[in-house]
Amino acid sequence: MPEARPERIVLVGFMGAGKSTVGRVLARRLGWSFLDMDERIEERTGRRISDFFRERGEAAFRSEELRVAQELRFRSRQVIATGGGAFAEPATREALREGAFTVYVAGDFETLAARVPADGSRPLAADREIMRRLLAEREPDYRSADLTVDGTEAPEAVAGRIVAAVFPERDAER
Ligand code: S3P
Repeated sequence: MPEARPERIVLVGFMGAGKSTVGRVLARRLGWSFLDMDERIEERTGRRISDFFRERGEAAFRSEELRVAQELRFRSRQVIATGGGAFAEPATREALREGAFTVYVAGDFETLAARVPADGSRPLAADREIMRRLLAEREPDYRSADLTVDGTEAPEAVAGRIVAAVFPERDAER
């Protein structure tokens, strides 16, 4: 059941979906704050994600993600952009869902892949075949979000759909 009056809106979906871009637009529109989980992890660990993956491995990264998701349960009026793997981890997904309205920012593989820079900043995006497999594996978890929007549309339009779904009364006021 989606929260009637969510404290947070959590954007989930694959790398390149536009979660952070849409999240910033959405937060501005609602007058809420915006938080990017990857940035929060970089702040906490003092490492870039790519360095953290290389030095400590993916399992350590997923533990950091879980910790951040748990810490965020106490925030209110916040839009959160998650990293692409966060919602595929059961404990992290559960923490992200608590008191929140979750949104899957979806996109077709070709669009997503074209948007992800091959600059090594995303350790799991080095190989297109691995990316394709990861997307297929994670899709059912993403689809379990409260709402699915098309992330290939303009960020303003995507944010508008989310506002309309979460606060239909605001829409009626316009
Ligand atoms: C990951 C996605 C990245 C980042 C890390 C792992 C993934 O976030 O969390 O590189 O497992 O898909 P974005 O979705 O913001 O690129």
